[in-house]
Parts: sequence; structure tokens; C-alpha cells
Amino acid sequence: MSNQFANLVVGDASAQNPLPILKGTIGPDAVDVRALLDKQGLLTFDPGFRSTASCQSAITYIDGDKGQLLYRGYPIEQLAAQCNFDEVAHLLMHGELPNAEELASFQQDLRDHNLLHDQVLSFYRGFRRDAHPMAVMVGVVGALSAFYQDSQDYNRDADQQKAAIRLVAKMPAIAAASFTYSAGRPIRHPDNSLDYASNFLQMMFGKPNEPYIVDPVLAKAIELIMILHADHEQNASTSTVRMAASSGANPFACLSAGIATLWGPAHGGANEAVLLMLEEIGSPERIPDVVKRAKDKNDPFRLMGFGHRVYKNYDPRAAIIRDTTLNVLSHLGMENSPLMATALELERIALSDEYFIKKKLYPNVDFYSGILLRAMGFPSRMFTAVFAVARTVGWVSHWLELKQEGHGIDRPRQLYTGPTPRQLER
Ligand code: SDX
Repeated sequence: MSNQFANLVVGDASAQNPLPILKGTIGPDAVDVRALLDKQGLLTFDPGFRSTASCQSAITYIDGDKGQLLYRGYPIEQLAAQCNFDEVAHLLMHGELPNAEELASFQQDLRDHNLLHDQVLSFYRGFRRDAHPMAVMVGVVGALSAFYQDSQDYNRDADQQKAAIRLVAKMPAIAAASFTYSAGRPIRHPDNSLDYASNFLQMMFGKPNEPYIVDPVLAKAIELIMILHADHEQNASTSTVRMAASSGANPFACLSAGIATLWGPAHGGANEAVLLMLEEIGSPERIPDVVKRAKDKNDPFRLMGFGHRVYKNYDPRAAIIRDTTLNVLSHLGMENSPLMATALELERIALSDEYFIKKKLYPNVDFYSGILLRAMGFPSRMFTAVFAVARTVGWVSHWLELKQEGHGIDRPRQLYTGPTPRQLER
């Protein structure tokens, strides 16, 4: 709380209606409107929550104008360069980077909980082989609510921490199984001789008839993708997880709701949409037509992978992943891939186009992550599933923060524009 107030003038200009101003550690202050309805009989109106702080949080901070992203205060550029995914996961979930002993214990917890219950594997057989991996993940993660009867008192810290670890530990196997099942290959189990990121690759691409050899360049690339996608403050899917958690729903059901929200093409589904768009464009020569469509007010077409609700400068994650994408393409001998040529030309044109400059539409992380994942062998239908594996850390971190805060149920109001009271006369 600060000693500053915003004065709300309603009708009588002389009346004083002070609203407290709340200050965070950094970022915009907030007008505390919690008493507005009771005291003034007024609601605030902010569909899309562009100007609304839905909660207070100490996990991630974004400055859209500076292109700044901090996980627990550390710049994403430093974490991406100096940490592995396990360390970043510990930082987000527990507030601090782990020392050697804490890291070893955290990694052991992840190894102890990364297997899927044999009956969970039977859920996959209920899906068609061509089911979208996100449809499978929504179903399987939600179904985990039916397991772990031993520790379902989510008001107890121990049960909260166990559920959080179980979700982070199991998500790579859940995602990989949705791919191998669709490919008609046997579902693979984690190999605890590998680190978290490499284990995900072996479950995705390993074959039962030959040993899986980890390519360290690809392992580093998938680890970077997971670090960059781990959390992003109150984005749509995290807000969904928080809303579900506020009702007291169990964490598996909350994350199933988050996965469903992430699937949308305006959110985590954008990386898959970027690849479909680039494939549809086909060659750099067709880019001017596409850019023209993107600028046409009457055309719903959006340039996928461009723009962001918060970053009105550049997405710092895009700058980091762009370099790795070029390195991996070169490592794989794909530096002349038509897809990358089209992407780089689209990026060049969009960044020099008056419309995109004026609307501050820069490439976001999804613009490059799809190209990188495709080069690594992930089918485009798996891109958002990879995003979900990474964002599970952010989702459970916000779930833990909300549980520890003792948050009441979220219940937004509305500006009603329907019929006034009328009598039913038959
Ligand atoms: C993610 O929230 C998060 O943090 C999300 C995320 C995370 O880590 O969780 O960062 C992950 O979702 C990244 C964003 C991925 N989505 C896409 O790449 C899809 C394409 N982008 C657009 O759908 C759009 O940019 C949004 C949804 C991302 C952001 O939209 P905004 O900020 O709400 O902007 P808007 O839709 O109100 O558009 C503002 C103007 C509009 O023009 P006007 O009506 O003002 O004339 O910009 C235009 C839009 O038409 N515009 C675009 C555009 N994005 C916005 N025009 C063409 N192509 C685009 N991509």
C-alpha cells in the first residue's frame, strides 16, 4: 500500500472518492478498486484485462516497452545463457536458484515422479491415432485427477509440492506419448540416466530397436525452448489455471484447463500456426501479398508469430531463440531451408513495413520456435505440446503461489446489456 490515492470524480466534482494506489516492487502502480462497488455502486470495465492487475505475484515480470522479461528478478537473457532447465524450474517454483544440494534433490524428485501409471497409458488407446496432441494432453492431464488419492489435501504444503513435482516430472512423458502413439510406435518411458531435456527428446524420437544417441546441440536447443517458455506472468493460460485454482479445483484439472487455453492460435497455438502460414506462403515471392492481407482491416488474417499483447517493443525471447534457430539449422545442414528463407524475408519485410512499425508488431517467440522445432524433427502438431511441457513449470508456480496466498474464488462481474425485467405472459 502507498500513501497515494486516485480521486474518482462521479457526478459532484467536489466530492472526494479516494481510491488507494498500490505499489509493486517494479512496474505500474495499481488503483485499488476492490471497494468501488460497495462504496460507489460502480464496476470497472476492462474486457481483455488490458489495464487490469488480476492478482499480485512475485514470480515473473514483463516490461513490454523495454522488452524485458524477469523470472524472480533474473533477466531471461542471463538465465538462458547460464542455467539449465531444472535450475530455472526450481527458481520459478521456489523463488531462488538451487544450490548444488538443492538441485540434486530437486532433480531426484523429478526422476522419482516421471513415470506414468500403467493405467494412464491405457487412456491413449481411447484416442484416434490422428488425435491432436493437445486434445490428448487436455484429456490425460485432467484424468490424473483420478489418481494419487494418497495426497489430495491441496491445502497442505506437502501435497501441494508433491502435485507440483508430479506435473513437472510427468509432462514430458505425457506429451511424448501423444506423439509416439499417433506415430504407431510404442510409448517410451523416461531414461533416468538422461537430464530432463534430453529425456524428452529420447521419449519423442527414440526407437525400441536401437539405442538413442543424444545430440548435444539439439538437447541444448530444446532446453533453451523450455527455459524461454517456462513462464510469462498472467498470460491467458496461466490466468485460466489461477481462475480454476481459485475455486479449489485440483491441480491436474487446473492444468488441463490451462492446456486447453494454451491451444488457441492467438496464444500457444501460434507456433503451429506460424509453420502452417510459412508453408502456405511457400516462397519469399509471395510475401508481399501476405503482408497486404495482414494489413487489410476487412481480412481476419493475422501474420502469425507477430505482435504481442504486452511486448510493444520486441519479445526478448524471440531475440534469443532466433540465434539458436540459425545455429541448429546450420548444425543440421538446413541453413538454406526454404522455410527459413521465407521466414527471414518475412521478418525483414515486416520489420521495415510502416504498418507493422506503427503498430509495434515485432516477431514474437512463436515466430522462431516453430521453425526450430520443425528442424529438430517435431511435427507442427507437437509444437504447442512442447510449449505446454515448458509452461507447466509456470502454471504450477502460479498455482503454488495462489494456494499459499489463500486466494478466494475469482468472480468477475459484467456490464449487463440484456433485456430489462419483463413479465412472461402466455
Ligand atoms: C503468445 O500473453 C502472453 O504472454 C502470451 C505468450 C506467452 O508466453 O504466454 O507470450 C505466448 O501467445 C505469443 C503471441 C502468439 N500469437 C500470435 O503470434 C498470433 C498473432 N498475433 C496476434 O493474434 C496478436 O498480435 C496478439 C493476439 C498476440 C496480440 O494482440 P493484441 O495486443 O490484443 O493486439 P490487437 O489484436 O488488439 O491488435 C492491435 C492492432 C490491430 O489493428 P487495429 O484494430 O488497431 O487497426 O494490431 C493489429 C490488429 O489488427 N495486429 C496484427 C497482428 N497483431 C495485431 N495485424 C496483423 N498481424 C498480426 N499478427
